[in-house]
Amino acid sequence: MYKIPANTLFLGKQVVFVPECHSTNTLALQLSHKPSTTEGTVVITNHQTAGRGQRGNTWEAAPGMNLTFSTILRPAFLPVEDQFYLTIAVSLALHDYLGTKTGKPIAIKWPNDILVHEKKICGILIENQVQGSRLTTAVAGIGLNVNQQHFDTPTAMSLIQVTQKEDNLEAVLHGLLECLEARYLQLRRQDHDSLKEAYLSRLYARHEQRRFSSPQETFEGSIRGVDESGRLAVETADGLKYFGIKEVSLLR
Ligand code: BTN
Repeated sequence: MYKIPANTLFLGKQVVFVPECHSTNTLALQLSHKPSTTEGTVVITNHQTAGRGQRGNTWEAAPGMNLTFSTILRPAFLPVEDQFYLTIAVSLALHDYLGTKTGKPIAIKWPNDILVHEKKICGILIENQVQGSRLTTAVAGIGLNVNQQHFDTPTAMSLIQVTQKEDNLEAVLHGLLECLEARYLQLRRQDHDSLKEAYLSRLYARHEQRRFSSPQETFEGSIRGVDESGRLAVETADGLKYFGIKEVSLLR
């Protein structure tokens, strides 16, 4: 059970809690089609049996120990070509929250993995619905590792591993929703330049010489930034190249 947060204007004013579901994103997408579902509705569960990640991956989280939730947004003000700004706003909200909460340096690994000590503490899956040239609904799904101590993947990390303290999931959710609402309102004010600048300054491995892999090859390069559609700009031996999400990964 989760209470309604006191310090937000619209995020989380409706909370749909289900003890178990396949994926809160899937459930939120279904609910978003009902006219009675208001903007800011949060769908949250203790246990996802088929949590979905980016690039068709799954999202695993031990039941009852972590936050797995989705928020339903109606960013009708956002033209389709600017949809990456929603990714920016949500990533920054997580960065804001975790930076304050842990006091540690947090980084955003393109496009929207949140890292602490170079390990992933949070994953974000945003699924947009478009009508004509505008977004109608966006489901922003967030998986934040909170009290889980052990992971199968060596690159995963949780809040408890950073702070050495168990956290109350509801308190973490409420703090996060406040940060999310603040960044979403900044997006609604069309404050794109500041959002992009903040995102770039927090981007993992920016301006560092790294190895990357694409479906064709591995290569060296240095991240320069992102273009307006969210593609990653990498300076390579053959010049500046742009990559979509399925076209490149940063190697460790
Ligand atoms: C990723 O890093 O691959 C994104 C992971 C996103 C996981 C969250 S958990 C809540 C929401 N429901 C899902 O099925 N996925 C997202």
